[in-house]
Amino acid sequence: MKSAAKNTLKVRRAPAIETELTVPGDKSISHRAILLSAISNGRCTITNFLEGDDCRSTAKAMGQLGVAIETPKPGTVVVEGNRGVFLAPSEDIDCGNSGTTMRLMSGLLAAQNFRCRLTGDPSLSKRPMRRVISPLQEMGARLSAEGTKQCPPLVVEGGPLTGITYRLPVASAQVKSAVLLAGLFASGRTTVIETARSRDHTERMFEYYLIKFHREDVWVGKSPAHRNLQESRITVDGGQIPESRDFHVPGDISSAAFWLVAAAAQPGSRLLVKDVGLNPTRTGIIDVLIRMGACIREVVESAPHGEPAGTIDIKGCGLHGTEICGDEIPNVIDEIPAIAVAAALAEGKTVIRDAAELRVKETDRIAAVATNLRAMGVEVEEFPDGMAITGGAPLKGAKLQSFGDHRIAMAFAVAGLFATGETTIEDTACVQTSYPGFSETLKLIQKGKGIGRRTPVISSLESQSRRRKGAKP
Ligand code: S3P
Repeated sequence: MKSAAKNTLKVRRAPAIETELTVPGDKSISHRAILLSAISNGRCTITNFLEGDDCRSTAKAMGQLGVAIETPKPGTVVVEGNRGVFLAPSEDIDCGNSGTTMRLMSGLLAAQNFRCRLTGDPSLSKRPMRRVISPLQEMGARLSAEGTKQCPPLVVEGGPLTGITYRLPVASAQVKSAVLLAGLFASGRTTVIETARSRDHTERMFEYYLIKFHREDVWVGKSPAHRNLQESRITVDGGQIPESRDFHVPGDISSAAFWLVAAAAQPGSRLLVKDVGLNPTRTGIIDVLIRMGACIREVVESAPHGEPAGTIDIKGCGLHGTEICGDEIPNVIDEIPAIAVAAALAEGKTVIRDAAELRVKETDRIAAVATNLRAMGVEVEEFPDGMAITGGAPLKGAKLQSFGDHRIAMAFAVAGLFATGETTIEDTACVQTSYPGFSETLKLIQKGKGIGRRTPVISSLESQSRRRKGAKP
């Protein structure tokens, strides 16, 4: 199904899904586990580490900076913490396709006493870096971008930093994390203020690695049920070194999203995704699919290292359109390509607004989604900050581009499962960025391989599950 030579995925209509599966380790958490372990005071073993290209870029960069990293077996990484003292690299650090690598590392490098140049592939070289340059300069670091419009390569000349209070101009966990990581090395106190909650893995990992920090949420609204976050202030004192700990990375809900959509949109499907991260700053996809009519339950089974994880149980029920905007956007930002495919398969209109950030991801995801959906016969209206998708028309198999973006490639592989004839997605090597093994799972799903009608896991879920507002019984 996947031709390695041509890096092409070919997909045909598939039967209803009836299976259970796991997905590889979470990308955001894997990056942070490497970085926090690297600056800790000893040896840390990370399990279920995502061996995708992006996280490998972070691990390789740490190696270039003198951090000893071993991989005794696939998915297990042993990192010797250096207490935050890196060695100057002998050459440029290549961050590949990974914005998270470049932005989070710039926070760590801002405090080192050497100069370092961070480069990226053609896609990363078009992504905005001003968002990390500005706050880190305010803290006293010398950073400059060599590309036009403050795009990479990024040159970081580290030095002594001073804590600042910084209000995020865009809801970005990468910027928040870069400033908080720099704050660990700064004199005094660093506070980041966010007005829409972005993923909080850095804060949870701070807590787990015994870094003292403080979060204060300010709410508006009369009662707990009718209140909105006005702002969240996260404060960390400088001069702290993380305590070395072992860390287990849960499965990536952003990778699970593709199969959740495939199951949700097919009446008669039943899917269990196990050992998947259920951090509430990442589970917006579940709320959206429930609003669209899917029957979903999630069960948090453990949170050993501060990150809740468990099982998602989903039944396909036939979907209808919804609206996604405002504070919900940061929680679903990486899932919007998959959600757009769900929207095309749903009856009625789905409107996505306040998502201009999609224009500066691995590709312009608004343009990429609109181009591919239109090629499959779907009516799409594009806005500067989103799109309106009219669902319900049969999808036509088509020849599509990934635009070099892993999530576009995978979202449209799922679209192909519902289309007439054959759908071809070209340039799909990028899938390795976040989901090694995607095409193998796709193959099983196309063949309709399943686990049988009921398993003990499904029946045990009946009693444990937490039903969300609006979920069908
Ligand atoms: C990430 C944050 C998000 C997300 C990206 C990973 C992270 O980016 O889109 O895939 O690990 O912090 P922004 O911080 O730019 O919103």
